[in-house]
Amino acid sequence: MDIIRLVSEMQQRAISAQAAGQTISFVPTMGFLHQGHLSLIEEGRKKGDLLVLSIFVNPTQFGQGEDFEDYPRGLQQDSDLAQEAGVDIIFAPEASDMYPDGYATYVDVEGITDNLCGRSRPGHFRGVCTVVSKLFNIVQPQVAIFGNKDFQQLAVIRRITLDMNMPVEIVGMSIFRESDGLAMSSRNVYLTPELRKQALVLSQSLLKAKALVESGETDCATVISRLRESIACQPDARIDYVQICHQSTLADQDHIDIDSVLLLAVYVGNTRLIDNGYLVQNHD
Ligand code: PAJ
Repeated sequence: MDIIRLVSEMQQRAISAQAAGQTISFVPTMGFLHQGHLSLIEEGRKKGDLLVLSIFVNPTQFGQGEDFEDYPRGLQQDSDLAQEAGVDIIFAPEASDMYPDGYATYVDVEGITDNLCGRSRPGHFRGVCTVVSKLFNIVQPQVAIFGNKDFQQLAVIRRITLDMNMPVEIVGMSIFRESDGLAMSSRNVYLTPELRKQALVLSQSLLKAKALVESGETDCATVISRLRESIACQPDARIDYVQICHQSTLADQDHIDIDSVLLLAVYVGNTRLIDNGYLVQNHD
């Protein structure tokens, strides 16, 4: 496995691989790898001849006062895990190489970024869309693998690739969870044991909502208010949003149907956690 630091070197490697007829599969991450990332890598292994994993804590997608500085990092451990998982190249650029002096170009996706995380984290998707577009131009993958954990991010990336005619197949993977249901996240390390217990309120809310729907409830407002009540019972939980949206448009719905997805963002202590799931049928 190679670790490439320079943008120019990564792009050159990608061009040579393409010329040699290799298919490039790509898993973009911010590192501090966990089983969720590894499930994407495993899928990437199946989809291409050359598997590239990027590790880059992208400054442009963090807002002021967010955790850019504190975001967990561990390149040595990440490269051990990546090597074991069959990654061919880790691309771990410096911010100064990705955004050199004079950098001035940003990618904005309209509409589906207005709601949910786009509303509570202004500028976040502009940073994500910019870095993912840059990474696609540098790594030049035929296939890129993303997780459904970041449901809105995946929808936004599908939108850019379609709108910008990017020749990349986007593959979405199901949410990988701890055995007690907590969705895996690099940010889970911020949780103390007490907060870790309270964090279960996210996955339990999904189960509760599905049970309500199974018992015949179809009114979104009713489901949302029941979930808000139970989340409020956790002393250190603070709701950012609890919404039921259409899976493609991400617009809020009034009535639950086959396209309904419940999306949650909840601060547990100071840690902002997200989770989501379909309400009617298991689409995963
Ligand atoms: P990061 O949070 O490191 O996640 C990298 C990829 O792993 C994303 O596609 C995310 O959805 C997926 N992922 C995270 N947790 C997962 C889980 N529990 N199960 C399945 N997949 C999971 O998302 C980002 O980085 C960045 O925004 C990035 C796209 C790299 C752009 O900077």
